[in-house]
Amino acid sequence: MGGNVGITDTVRVVVDGCEVEAPAGQTIAALLVSLGYRSFSRSKVSGSRRGLFCGQGVCFECEVTLGDGEKVRACVTPVEPGMVIRTDQAKEA
Ligand code: FES
Repeated sequence: MGGNVGITDTVRVVVDGCEVEAPAGQTIAALLVSLGYRSFSRSKVSGSRRGLFCGQGVCFECEVTLGDGEKVRACVTPVEPGMVIRTDQAKEA
């Protein structure tokens, strides 16, 4: 009984300009929460902060921007090696 629940593989990604290590297969949302993020984006209408809400890909409240400008739902998108992730917490260059 029981299994290997340890983290065996990790990937390196960049979050708001900082390189971090994440368990392979972890969602972007899980990574961001583990790093202390609670807000991932801003409402296009009111500008209020948005973060995890449904946690299952339905509400789009958790959108983040990838390095190529693509917007993805953090709660259903796994981290990939070399991924560049940008949240609303990113400092403007
Ligand atoms: S939290 Fe609802 S789509 Fe991600």
